[in-house]
Amino acid sequence: MTTSSTNHTERLEALLKEGRVLKPSEEFRRQANAGDPAIYERAAKDPEAFWAEEAKRLDWFEPWKKVLEWTVPWAKWFTGGKLNAAYNCVDRHAASSRRNKAALIWEGEPGDSRVLTFGMLEREVNRCANALKSLGVRRGDRVAIYLGMTPELPIALLACAKIGAPHSVVFGGFSAESLRERINDAKAKVLITADGAWRRGSVVPLKASADLALEGTPTIEHVLVVERIGQAANAAMKPGRDVRWRELVDSSSPFCEPEPMDAEDMLYILYTSGTTGKPKGVVHTTAGYLVGVAATHHYIFDVKENDVYWCTADIGWVTGHSYIVYGPLANGTTSLMYEGSPDFPDRGRFWSIVEKYGVNILYTAPTAIRTFMRWGTDWPAKHDLSSLRVLGTVGEPINPEAWMWYNENIGRGRCPVVDTWWQTETGMILITPLPGLTATKPGSATKPFPGIAAEVLDEKGQPVGPGAGGYLTLTRPWPAMFRTIYGDPDRYVEQYWSSYSGKYFTGDGAKVDEDGYFWLLGRVDDVMNVAGHRISTYEVESALVDHPFVAEAAVIGRKDDVKGQAIAAFVTLKESSPSADTLKQELKQHVAQKIGPIARPDDIYFTSELPKTRSAKIMRRLLRDIAEGRVLGDTTTLADPAVISKLKRQYEEKGNSE
Ligand code: WTA
Repeated sequence: MTTSSTNHTERLEALLKEGRVLKPSEEFRRQANAGDPAIYERAAKDPEAFWAEEAKRLDWFEPWKKVLEWTVPWAKWFTGGKLNAAYNCVDRHAASSRRNKAALIWEGEPGDSRVLTFGMLEREVNRCANALKSLGVRRGDRVAIYLGMTPELPIALLACAKIGAPHSVVFGGFSAESLRERINDAKAKVLITADGAWRRGSVVPLKASADLALEGTPTIEHVLVVERIGQAANAAMKPGRDVRWRELVDSSSPFCEPEPMDAEDMLYILYTSGTTGKPKGVVHTTAGYLVGVAATHHYIFDVKENDVYWCTADIGWVTGHSYIVYGPLANGTTSLMYEGSPDFPDRGRFWSIVEKYGVNILYTAPTAIRTFMRWGTDWPAKHDLSSLRVLGTVGEPINPEAWMWYNENIGRGRCPVVDTWWQTETGMILITPLPGLTATKPGSATKPFPGIAAEVLDEKGQPVGPGAGGYLTLTRPWPAMFRTIYGDPDRYVEQYWSSYSGKYFTGDGAKVDEDGYFWLLGRVDDVMNVAGHRISTYEVESALVDHPFVAEAAVIGRKDDVKGQAIAAFVTLKESSPSADTLKQELKQHVAQKIGPIARPDDIYFTSELPKTRSAKIMRRLLRDIAEGRVLGDTTTLADPAVISKLKRQYEEKGNSE
């Protein structure tokens, strides 16, 4: 276990002793999508039959022949089946009584909003699909997407799916360099971007970043540019390469036949941080993924026909892919997407949106909840939140205090809270309560979803007993699991399937209590979780040592009350470097520029040496002790224990790094 997990563990320990359990109300159970507890037993007994039953949620052009082919660690689901994800998310609803039902509700920055019915969405997706075809995109070609949270983003995803071109969305907050790296790894043919995005009333210059990225992307032939800002963005267009969305998409035909895809054809690539510097292209395929996200969305959020469902994530992350776009739309749900931030124009923004649209299901992150806690109960109290029925959280362990605050102040004690554990790699939620069925314990993600098997193991691969910490593994394949790392199958095997034979290693620590409830303890590898975003320590270190004055850097995630973790960097400078203090801001800026503002270090400490073992491995554990103000752990394996005591003294004298 890492020491960063320790504090969390202690608090959970206290809570476990307290034994707070919230039982589902009979009233909720009676109407719940997952009202019958037999679902667990049924799925455990015959998982393949369970998933085959769930697969009937989708429309298939050709039925599958085999539910699962599993040769560890290679899975194929629903082989022989043919289907199209966009057809399932849009066309079939547009052809039904849902034609005039809202598919997407878009709330933009103040003053802007747009509603697209399934019928309207179908036409937009088709226009975009035809536009992509006219730019030379064919089945199997990758399309990179770098957009803010406007309706063109889900439209672009679905247009790619419609013609069988895997998309690779890059979060709009990433830098030009990060974008370039991802485009090149995916060898994307077309980039879809915008002249800019709005963020708290100011412009994020997406096109300028894209242009910079495109200086080194040989595979990109065309760029489709959405005009979100207009004149003020002052975005340059490169003749022959760049085309405006408004000109090309709006004039394309609104009719497009869906490409019949094989079950195992790639639906998308999404890059995520791992334990090395190079982001991993997580590959998701068509049928299993769509079955997994549709089924989980149905049961976990208890979605009903006339509900308005709001997931506050950005579509640049997996949560947005699975639970703003594919899961909800496959189920014909009205999915709300929001462009802006929670405090613009004021701190009541989320609650005014809930009130405005009568949101029934809200899915957000612990870091947001902790921020709301800090802002106080007056903001939510000012709004009518009585439409809410289910509350979800995702992205990092939720501390019991935040869980209770959410339950009391947002759910007003009436709404089941679902703490959902999953990852970019898992594609779908895997550990979660089922509302109406599962008694919840604040701080616990409760139990594996029906059909999912999870185990907590020790270093040797033995299951640990109740209450003991260990490594979370998944012991049975599930339909939405990623199939490989794009272009790097060895890394897929090595990183996920080699620690425990035949089992998927998640990289998370966990424990299971006497009742079989899972308590997530945070990452046990070098991946940080900053405000719910995955960032590898190694990525930030690489960005730092890329600066001409930096000799060496060690980065750790230290505990932070709001963001979960904050980034602390310990840096040694080259001898010729100028005075240290002026450099801190410059280094922070350098990292933000290299990776993106989410990776900007919160603290920078200069040190003449880093604590290393005799085999020259940096001991991050000790750096974490320093940054979190703890007594130093075991220092006996250090090559030179004086280095760490000096660093600790220096830290205590200076206090804060600023
Ligand atoms: C963490 C986001 C505790 C975990 C969907 C995981 C969580 C990483 C939870 C994946 C949760 C996500 N409780 N920890 N409910 N949800 N995590 O790939 O450490 O961005 O490994 O996927 O977030 O982050 P990713």
